[in-house]
Amino acid sequence: MNLHQTVSQVVQDAFNQAGLNEDAILLQPAGKPEFGDYQVNGVMGAAKRRKTNPRDLATQVAAFLAAKQDIVASAEVAGPGFINLRLNSAFLNQALQAALNDDNLNIVPVANPQTIVIDYSSPNLAKEMHVGHLRSTIIGDSLNRILTRLGHKVIAQNHVGDWGTQFGMLVAYLVEQQKTGDADMALSDLEGFYRGAKVRFDEDEDFANLSRDYVVKLQSGDDAVLDLWRQFVASSMEHAEEVYAKLGVLLTPDDVIGESAYNNDLQPVVDDLMARGLAVASNGAKVVFLPEFKNKEGDDAAYIVQKAGGGFLYSTTDLATIRHSVSEFNADRLLYVVDARQALHFQQLFTTARKAGYLPEHVAAEHIAFGTMMGEDGKPFKTRDGGTVKLMDLLKEAEERATALVKSKNTDLADDAAAHIGHTVGIGAVKYADLAKSRTSDYIFNWSTMLSFEGNTAPYLQYAYTRVQSVLRKAAEQNVAAGQVQVEAFAEQQLALALLQFEDVLTQVADSAYPHHLASYLYNVATLFSRFYEQCPILKAEGEVLASRLALAQLTGQTLKQGLDLLGIEVLDVM
Ligand code: ARG
Repeated sequence: MNLHQTVSQVVQDAFNQAGLNEDAILLQPAGKPEFGDYQVNGVMGAAKRRKTNPRDLATQVAAFLAAKQDIVASAEVAGPGFINLRLNSAFLNQALQAALNDDNLNIVPVANPQTIVIDYSSPNLAKEMHVGHLRSTIIGDSLNRILTRLGHKVIAQNHVGDWGTQFGMLVAYLVEQQKTGDADMALSDLEGFYRGAKVRFDEDEDFANLSRDYVVKLQSGDDAVLDLWRQFVASSMEHAEEVYAKLGVLLTPDDVIGESAYNNDLQPVVDDLMARGLAVASNGAKVVFLPEFKNKEGDDAAYIVQKAGGGFLYSTTDLATIRHSVSEFNADRLLYVVDARQALHFQQLFTTARKAGYLPEHVAAEHIAFGTMMGEDGKPFKTRDGGTVKLMDLLKEAEERATALVKSKNTDLADDAAAHIGHTVGIGAVKYADLAKSRTSDYIFNWSTMLSFEGNTAPYLQYAYTRVQSVLRKAAEQNVAAGQVQVEAFAEQQLALALLQFEDVLTQVADSAYPHHLASYLYNVATLFSRFYEQCPILKAEGEVLASRLALAQLTGQTLKQGLDLLGIEVLDVM
């Protein structure tokens, strides 16, 4: 259920009864749970506009609120005119029961589902995926899951970099390697392959010319060169698929629409921009001048869409992509989960696309920017000798470290069980450490913090889930079952309230595209469960109290499981 909306409606009614139809209610979850569940802050502004006493007006509104006994337990005026609202236990019980009786935890699909295109992961295929691709891949994956869960139609786009001048060089090198018979070997290490090609390109003029020749052939659709290019792209994609499988993200080969797919749209886009006078010839290049952006000299920024030699750019492909997403998919919202350092590119892209009419006013376009993953030294994360860290190596290290950790905690654990738990905890830890931070900031990658069983970490949340499962297993052994929820103790009431806010949080993430709100929420649920568990014995209770507490535990378990799943993180029944 959308609790915030339900409570808002009640408060709005009370405002209307008090004649405050036009005033914002300003409803917030309470800062201090001792005083209430929600806080209404809108009366003060309303009183100011009417030049009346805010406490008197608040008293009036609070009386209307207190009369709504099916939802409200109490409404009290505080301070200069806040109202502290406490929800009725019967209402909470009923809502909790509805969530328990529904596999979807009573999360209602949005009334107006949108078609949302999310461009994420999108690595360049010339090289292996490195740590820089982690954030886009998992933030995009989580947004995909959450938006889908709320009933939107999500179209994932893995806009891989599979086109451009580098590919001429890689194809030339592939031809050489095939002659010596070592092509498969060479391709098994993409990083090495790229380095090898680059060395040949820099040292041998003939090789460099051949590479340039291949680029031209590639872009003009020469079958033989295209075939070689396909071989290279396929083996690079295979590597990316391995990373996706290890990460457990939703992306499939069907989601790949690489830069190459837009090759035939590039000239038409430039021609169209020229015909409409948006792009102009400038020193042989074709340029869109944007007065909205100024360069260092204070002149209009130049957004280049075609180079002097006729070549196209990243900008041209992205314009073609927007045109395609809007017309083919009828998209309502476009999300680009891309490094914050590309902010200017996206601002200029969206501005140009709006002017050209590719991006109509009713379609939202958002750059879902993220910061950089840093090493302990506060500089971008690198290997010890300063190289880029391959994403696969990082994920394998996570599994190894987590496996060693669980083995050290439980020495009887069989190797395959330890490896399974190690995978789930290790990958979960890497993902959670990233998703739990506000995406726009840089963060420091630290193995020991992310693998800790204390604090806001994946292992803590995964452990909280297994603890719930262990209580439920014991209950089953003792033949006792969950029943009607009857919230009584304060710790129960606080946990209940949090459990009912699940949909509110998903809506918040869907609107803002900040998955860390969901992480904070789950951490709060786990913390409140822990408090409840300490203060309200479950299995030692009896009768209706026992049944109610088991029901709360069960709903906590399901909320943690589904919430973590929406972050792309798995849980374990035992660990
Ligand atoms: N391949 C690009 C890179 O690695 C990211 C592409 C992002 N998507 C886009 N439509 N520009 O930087």
